Formats: sequence, C-alpha cells, structure tokens
Amino acid sequence: MTETMQAVQIHEYGGLDVLKLEAAPKPVPTENEVLIRVAAAGINPVDTYARAGGVAGMMGNDPFPLILGWDVSGMIEQAPAESGFQGGDAVYSMVNFPGKSSTYAQYVTAKLTDIAHAPQAIPITEAAAVPLVALTAWQVLFEAGNLQAGQRVLIHAAAGGVGHIAVQLAKWKGATVIGTASAQNADYLRQLGVDEFIDYTEQRYEDVVSDVDLVFDCVGSDTMARSIPITKQGGTVITIAGQPEADEKDGVRLKRVLVRSSGEQLAEIARLMDAGHVKPTVAHRFPLAQTAQAHELQASRHVRGKIILTT
Ligand SMILES: NC(=O)c1ccc[n+]([C@@H]2O[C@H](COP(=O)([O-])OP(=O)(O)OC[C@H]3O[C@@H](n4cnc5c(N)ncnc54)[C@H](OP(=O)(O)O)[C@@H]3O)[C@@H](O)[C@H]2O)c1
Repeated sequence: MTETMQAVQIHEYGGLDVLKLEAAPKPVPTENEVLIRVAAAGINPVDTYARAGGVAGMMGNDPFPLILGWDVSGMIEQAPAESGFQGGDAVYSMVNFPGKSSTYAQYVTAKLTDIAHAPQAIPITEAAAVPLVALTAWQVLFEAGNLQAGQRVLIHAAAGGVGHIAVQLAKWKGATVIGTASAQNADYLRQLGVDEFIDYTEQRYEDVVSDVDLVFDCVGSDTMARSIPITKQGGTVITIAGQPEADEKDGVRLKRVLVRSSGEQLAEIARLMDAGHVKPTVAHRFPLAQTAQAHELQASRHVRGKIILTT
C-alpha cells in the first residue's frame, strides 16, 4: 500500500484558493536520491508565480496534483550507502531548480547533488530560508559578476530575500556595498554591513551613486537601464528580475542569471554561516495549513528577509 503524507498541492493554476493541504503519496527515493523529513520549506517569489502558472514550463507535462516549493531543510530519513549522508543528518537544499517543485510537504526526495549538510549556527527550521536566495546571490556575485575585494557593488532591493544575503556575501568578499530599500530598512541594512544606504522612495539612486563595478538588480522594470550610466566602463549589471536587451551597452556588460541547484555551493555557504559571516533573517513563519497567508504576504514585495513554512 502507498504510504501517504500531508502536502500543500494544487490541482490547477490560479489564486490563493487553489492551495490545498491534503494527503499525498509519500515520495520514494531513487538510488541517487535521499528522502528528507521536512522541518521547514522556504517561500520565494517564484512559488507564487508557480502557483499562478507563470513557470508552467518547469513543471513538465501533466504536473497535477503539484506540490509547490523548492527550498527545504530537514533530517535525512533514508540515504544511499557511502553517499556521505546518513539517517538523522540535518540537511538543506534547493531541490531540482529549475525543474518541478516538491517541498511544501512532510517528506521530499532530493538528488545527492542538490543537498548539503545544514549550517549548525542556526536552527534547522531557519535553514530553509537560505538555499534559493543564497545560491542566487552566490551565482550572481561570484560567478556571473566575478566580484573582487575592494570593488563597489550596488544591490537593489537589499532588504529582500536575495538582497539581504547578497549584502552579507559581498561584505565577506571585501567589497564596498551600496544598498537600496525604503527608510524602514535603513538601520537594518546598516547593521547587515551596507556602507551606503539609499532610500529609493526619496532619492533617485543615479543621482547619488556613480562608478560602481557591479550592479545586482533584484527589482526589474527600468532598474537595469537606469543602472548602466552609474556603472564603470568594463563593469557589469546583472538582473535576476528582468531581461537585458543586449549583452553590452555603453561599455557595460549586461547579464541575466537564472539560479540553479548546487549542493556544493550550499556546503560552502553553510561553512560561511557557521563562521558567522552570513545569517538569514526569518521575518515570518507559518504552518503548512496557512500557506495561502504566506503567499499573500510574499506577493506584497515588501518582506524583510524571508518567510518559511513549518511542518
Ligand atoms: N532569476 C533568478 O534566478 C531569481 C532568483 C531569485 C529571485 N528572483 C527574482 O528576484 C526578485 C527579488 O527576489 P527576492 O526573493 O529578493 O524578493 P523579495 O524578498 O520579495 O523582495 C522584497 C524586498 O524588495 C524591496 N523592494 C521592493 N521594491 C523595491 C524597489 N523599487 N527598490 C528597492 N527595493 C525594493 C523591499 O524593500 P522595501 O520594503 O524597503 O521596499 C523588500 O525588502 C523577484 O522578482 C524574484 O522573482 C529571480
């Protein structure tokens, strides 16, 4: 008989009302996968787009019933022999991104290559706040952006999920960090290490910033275009929320990054967390039964740090 678990599933794309907490088959790991007993699932903006059908291309044919979510933390329930993981290990992961979602549930399977031991510096539930945003920040700053010590980086939406981790990673690297947010996040961002704070509701950043080496656009819309004139020749503007019109403009490189799963990078990020360089801000926690409230809050675009769902 198939074992069951509780999961938040959708049977069609749509609004908050399509989210259903209900019984679903407990997943069974393949030989290269682990089974994780979920402690928490992290919420990201892409989860709300997924619910509405905005990333249906990632979900494969015939995806319903579909469990949402990619971020997870929890304990290994079952692992292949000699995999480096064993029952009871605390792990965290962004599972299978870009690809079909699965983590708003009591159990989830994940490829060995997508998981890492969780940081010990924070509670296991909070570790679910980290994977997607930290992998995004890592891949933008250090892969696509090649950020070096001593460089100036401008992070748009520095108080958001991606931004607040990007600020800490850039400071760890030895960069000078300029961050945009509204006034309510000024003290918060200075405490995180931002060297120059810009309240985007009061000032146009292009009036007060110049000569940056790297711009990290977590906002979209006209942010990329407005950031080009304040970037050094040979510098780079990277968006995760828009689409560049060309590879280069006025001597500035333009890029878009789509995050991808990496257990290896999560292991490095866990080491930085355990060394005290990076810590997630978990602003809100909801039980799985209140996923709709969590999605509604996420869609406000004004959360500081992260929202998690606990099982
Ligand atoms: N391509 C990828 O792989 C990838 C990966 C991750 C995320 N994303 C996308 O990147 C975007 C950011 O993700 P996220 O998780 O960081 O979102 P988030 O946590 O929802 O961002 C919320 C933050 O945005 C700030 N904000 C809103 N409007 C702003 C503006 N005009 N200027 C500066 N800050 C502003 C808010 O600060 P205030 O309250 O102070 O306004 C708030 O702290 C989303 O569109 C997401 O879908 C893409």
